[in-house]
Amino acid sequence: MNADGRTRLNQTPEWTALVKHREELDGTGLRELFAADPGRGSGYTLQVGDLYVDYSKHLVTDETLRLLRELAAATDVFGLRDAMFRGEKINTTENRAVLHTALRAPRDAVIEVDGENVVPGVHAVLDKMADFADRVRSGTWTGHTGKRIRNVVNVGIGGSDLGPAMAYEVLRAFTDRDLTLRFVSNVDGADLHEAVRDLDPAETLFVIASKTFTTIETVTNATSARSWLLDALGGDEAAVAKHFVALSTNAEKVAGFGIDTANMFEFWDWVGGRYSYDSAIGLALMIAIGPAAFREMLDGFRIVDEHFRTAPAEENVPLLLGLLGIWYGNFHDAQSHAVLPYSHYLSNFTAYLQQLDMESNGKYVGRDGTEVDWQTGPVVWGTPGTNGQHAYYQLIHQGTKLIPADFIGFAEPVAELSDELKAQHDLLMANFFAQTQALAFGKTPDEVRAEGVPEELVAHKTFRGDHPTTTILARALTPSVLGQLVALYEHKVFVQGAVWDIDSFDQWGVELGKVLAKRVEPALTEGAEVPGLDASTRALVAKYRELRGR
Ligand code: F6P
Repeated sequence: MNADGRTRLNQTPEWTALVKHREELDGTGLRELFAADPGRGSGYTLQVGDLYVDYSKHLVTDETLRLLRELAAATDVFGLRDAMFRGEKINTTENRAVLHTALRAPRDAVIEVDGENVVPGVHAVLDKMADFADRVRSGTWTGHTGKRIRNVVNVGIGGSDLGPAMAYEVLRAFTDRDLTLRFVSNVDGADLHEAVRDLDPAETLFVIASKTFTTIETVTNATSARSWLLDALGGDEAAVAKHFVALSTNAEKVAGFGIDTANMFEFWDWVGGRYSYDSAIGLALMIAIGPAAFREMLDGFRIVDEHFRTAPAEENVPLLLGLLGIWYGNFHDAQSHAVLPYSHYLSNFTAYLQQLDMESNGKYVGRDGTEVDWQTGPVVWGTPGTNGQHAYYQLIHQGTKLIPADFIGFAEPVAELSDELKAQHDLLMANFFAQTQALAFGKTPDEVRAEGVPEELVAHKTFRGDHPTTTILARALTPSVLGQLVALYEHKVFVQGAVWDIDSFDQWGVELGKVLAKRVEPALTEGAEVPGLDASTRALVAKYRELRGR
C-alpha cells in the first residue's frame, strides 16, 4: 500500500497484467506483427493537428495498447489532466497550480487560480510583449545613444534559456535576419565573452530571463553584462533602462537589480520554468519572429492542448506516446529514449526536451512521499538524425541496449532554401525512412548470406531489428507545428508522471548542488576552511588552488 492507502502501482492488477502480457509476447518481433496484420502500416497511426504519428513500428499489439490504456485508467491520468486544466494545485510539494496551458488559452477563456481568472493577465503580458517587440523590430525603441537595437542577448539558464534558444533555431527562417540573437546561460565567463565580443553595446539589448531572479548564473552574467554595457557607454546608469529588460515573476528582485519594473514582463508561479517559453520568457523569440508568428506558435500549442483534453484514450496521441515509453521503461528495462529530428533547425530540440522530461520525471519519490520501486523518467538524448547515423546509430542498430526512438521529419524543406538545397531534402528524408525500416526489420542471416557475404562475416552483418520507433511527420516546420510538437512532449511527460505517481512539476533534485556550490566558492577564492567538506573535495579544491597559483 502507498502511504495514502492506495495500492502501489506495481501491485495493481493492471500492472501485473502487463507483466504477464510482456512474457507472453516475448519473441514476437515486428516482422511477425506486420505479417499478421497487413493494415498495420496505416492502421497504427494517429493524427493530431498537423502531426501524423505512426506507431506501427512498436513492439505492441492491440492487446498491449488496451492493457496500457487500462493502466492509465487505473492511475486516473485523465482525472489528473482535468485537474491540471482546471488550475488545481497538482504540484503538491510546492502547493502550486500547473497552468502552462493557460499561456495559450484564447482571450475569452476563464481559468481560475485561487478564485481569480488568470487569462486576462496572460493576454495583457502578451500584448505588452507584442508592443515592445514591434518597437524593437521597427527601430522605434532605441538604445541610450539613440542607435537602433540590432542585437538581442537573452541571459538566462534552464527553462529561461533552453526554450527560447531552441525555438529561435527552429524558426530561423521566420526571423528578422537583420537582428542578431544570442543566448548566454553558462556562468563560465567565456559564454558572455563570446556572445558579446563582436557586438556594439550601443546597439545591444539584454533580456534578463529568470523566473526567480535569484539564479546565481543568471544574476552573475547579468551583472557582468551591465558592466560591459556601462563601461562602453561612459558609465551613465540611465543607459540600463534602454538596454535591459527583465522577464520574471519577482518584481522586487528585478527592481533590486536596477531594472525598471516598467521594463519587466511578468509571469506567474503556476508556470514551471521548463514549461515557460511560451510565456514572457519567449520575449527574445518574439522579437526575432514577430508577434504574429509567436501567436501562431501559441495556436499550435492550443491545438494539442485541446486534443489532449478531449480526445478519447484510443486516439489521444500524448497518452499513447506516454504509455509506449512506460511499456519500454517499465516492462522491457529500457533506460533511455532517443529523439532524432531529421531537420537541421531542430538541432537543439532534444536538449530542450532533456530539461522538460528529465527535470520533470527524474524522481524516485512518489506523490505520497515514499520511494517508488519502479523505473521513472528515462535518459533522453539525441541529435539531428543524419549526423547521429555517423556517430551513435551503430549502437542503436547492433548494440546490446534497447533504445526506443522518436523520428521527427517534414515533407517540405523551408521555403527560403535555394532550389539546389531544396533538392537535397529527398535524400535527407530517404535516410529518415530507411533508418526506421532498418531498425524495425533488420536483416536476417539468410538475407545476408543471399548477398554472398562470406560465412565468417554473416553474424557481423546481421541486424536483429525490433528496435521500436515512433515516426512523426508533418508537411512543414512552421511556428504552429513547433507549438504542436512542444505541447505533445509536454503532455507525454505529464502522462508518464501521472502513471508513475510522481510530482512532475517540482525539481528539488537541483537544489543540493546549488547550495553546495555557494558553500564551496569561498574555499576556491579565499582558501576559506569550509566545514563539512569531504576529503575528496577538499583535496580537489587544494589542487585547483595550486594550479591557479593561489
Ligand atoms: O534547474 C533548476 C531551475 O530551477 C529550472 O527549473 C529553471 O528553469 C532554472 O533553474 C532557471 O531558473 P530561473 O528562471 O528562476 O532563473
